Amino acid sequence: MTAPTLEIHLSDADLTAALRSDATTGLTSTPKTLPPKWFYDARGSELFERITALPEYYPTRTERALLERVVDEIAAAAEAEVLVELGAGSAAKTRLLLTAARAAGPLKTYVPQDVSAAALRESTREIAAEFPDLAVHGVVSDFTDTLHNLPGGGRRMVVFLGGTIGNLVPAERAEFLASIHDVLEPGERLLLGAGLVIDPAILVPAYDDAAGVTAEFNRNVLHVLNNRLAADFEPEKFAHVALWDAEREWIEMRLAATEDMTVRVRELDLEVHFARGEQMRTEISAKFRVDGLRAELDAAGFDTEHTWTDPKNRFVLVLAGRR
Ligand code: SAH
Ligand code: AVI
Repeated sequence: MTAPTLEIHLSDADLTAALRSDATTGLTSTPKTLPPKWFYDARGSELFERITALPEYYPTRTERALLERVVDEIAAAAEAEVLVELGAGSAAKTRLLLTAARAAGPLKTYVPQDVSAAALRESTREIAAEFPDLAVHGVVSDFTDTLHNLPGGGRRMVVFLGGTIGNLVPAERAEFLASIHDVLEPGERLLLGAGLVIDPAILVPAYDDAAGVTAEFNRNVLHVLNNRLAADFEPEKFAHVALWDAEREWIEMRLAATEDMTVRVRELDLEVHFARGEQMRTEISAKFRVDGLRAELDAAGFDTEHTWTDPKNRFVLVLAGRR
């Protein structure tokens, strides 16, 4: 086994500087907002893993079952030598793809990328042990910043699973897909997993589970602000809110202040006032229609080659080729 490598393109100081900027903007806007990437410190990544096992959270198990069904077709169609996975996290489902791509032949290198160094350190170590003849090069970076620092070395397939594409607002999504197009060569591929628009009676509980794990995940962003920017949020004074925006077809997660309060963010020399009931947006999770996704990919310079959906039409995997 070759030891896995981990390239850090986002140091601790870079992360703090980025959070300073996002928090300054987001906490002084009306309404207040924070970008979802700040959920994922070590605790947030662990909470996300617990979410994936909740009975209400259908996306992970649906995408896994779909992958199990079609992974050989994907591997045969893509003939990838390098599999680059954005927002890889624990890479739990990726093992299916790696196994199939190894069996199909040419796969030599796996490049998992994530903003969470803690999650990536563990997944690179585990995957290198499970796939001893695969080169594993982890990259800690922000996929909305630049993708130009991702190693290549053969025909690539960029993989973006879990429906994380839905955590970007439409303008960010267009920019992100264009930036993937920018780093790929003609004929290389993108495998995208995305949640579909379904009955809100199933969707909303997936983001508001009975055990309160999603609520804790949501409040984790306040722990991150406390730890990184010496803020004095009292997370238990914020209630978890998940609602379906039928017009924009996305789930919105918010944190609602349960009383009037003033929070100090020492590192920013900032005092932030919350009125009782005031809500701060912490995440969107957009759901898609297959045709809409195909159109967005087309606009970014990708031709959709295959789409696969689960029997209940809750999730789609799209394999697209870069023009
Ligand atoms: N792909 C995994 C994990 C999804 S959770 C799955 O399908 O289960 C979303 C992952 O994206 C987390 O690991 C999080 O740390 C990462 N992430 C979120 N925003 C990011 C960003 N801007 N840049 C890089 N990684 C990001
Ligand atoms: C990572 N991402 C696709 C998850 C989602 O479903 O939007 C994050 C999450 N938020 C709440 N629960 C899970």
